[in-house]
Amino acid sequence: MKREIVCSGIRPTGNLHLGNYFGALRNFVKMQDEHDCYFFVADYHSLTTHPTPGDLYSNARQILVQYLAAGLDPEKSTIYLQSDLPETIELYLFLNMNAYLGELERVTSFKDKVRQQPNNVNAGLLTYPTLMAADILIHKATRVPVGKDQEQHLEMTRTFAQRFNSMYQSEVFPLPQAFNYGHELVKIPGLNGSGKMGKSEGEGNAIFLNDEPSVIRKKIMKAKTDSGPTEPNQPKPVEIDNLFTLMRVVSTDETVRHFEELYNSCQIRYGDMKKQLAEDMVAFTEPFRQRIAELSADEEALRRIMDRGKERAHESARRTIDEVRHVIGYRN
Ligand code: TRP
Repeated sequence: MKREIVCSGIRPTGNLHLGNYFGALRNFVKMQDEHDCYFFVADYHSLTTHPTPGDLYSNARQILVQYLAAGLDPEKSTIYLQSDLPETIELYLFLNMNAYLGELERVTSFKDKVRQQPNNVNAGLLTYPTLMAADILIHKATRVPVGKDQEQHLEMTRTFAQRFNSMYQSEVFPLPQAFNYGHELVKIPGLNGSGKMGKSEGEGNAIFLNDEPSVIRKKIMKAKTDSGPTEPNQPKPVEIDNLFTLMRVVSTDETVRHFEELYNSCQIRYGDMKKQLAEDMVAFTEPFRQRIAELSADEEALRRIMDRGKERAHESARRTIDEVRHVIGYRN
């Protein structure tokens, strides 16, 4: 496989859960061995919602700790805070000169925000796609691992890159493509009998990577079940099937088979199954909890990681910005 320059931004939005881990995150971790990766916490983009100064840093730090605990490796990848790379802002300014009001207003995520927060339709929201394009183009990234909801933004990144190239009759920017790992996503169900695990699905639906064992046990024991099968070998109702799916992720094959047999012979006791699932879940998440605790307590180590990422990101960004300034016509 060709080695690509990969770039992705991480929104600092609270705690990671098991669904996040088996979604994009595990693929980020794998990519690090195959490509040159730039991962950053999008703490400029956060300003569109006006966080307090205290929250701005603590949210960024929290998400950084959790991604590191889940396997992002500062030895393999360049991991940094977006706000440590002001070159991005210079490129953002240049790109904004060729981004048009009409096309920015037509972006789906912008229109959603206008509807959701009519009292805070700021210019930062409008130009969110040019900032995202700057994040990507500053490293001349060729691949961007993003979900479906970001495809339109990526399309705009290509538009801005292409426009810049043709305006200056240059080949400064490659046109970045989405990194599609959809086929490798494992869909993790939630605990309340609904669809997938998510923090907006209500209290207790998601298992977070930093949940204490007692919290995990409580959430799993409260998971929705029914009164059990009355006939052998029946298909499982959704909430029961969900528990088995979770079990397949964290328990041994033998354990899963054991409860499958009990289910199929109508002897299953969901209390027992949940107790087992809870213990296996606690064991599975133990390494995450440990690394999160270690990293959160070691401000100095975190600082070293951030400084190193900043330095490496800066090297790459400096090269691009020098070239861009020259192409535009600055001669200083
Ligand atoms: N917009 C992305 C999101 O909401 C975050 C992001 C910001 C990003 N800049 C990026 C993703 C650059 C990929 C590349 O999740």
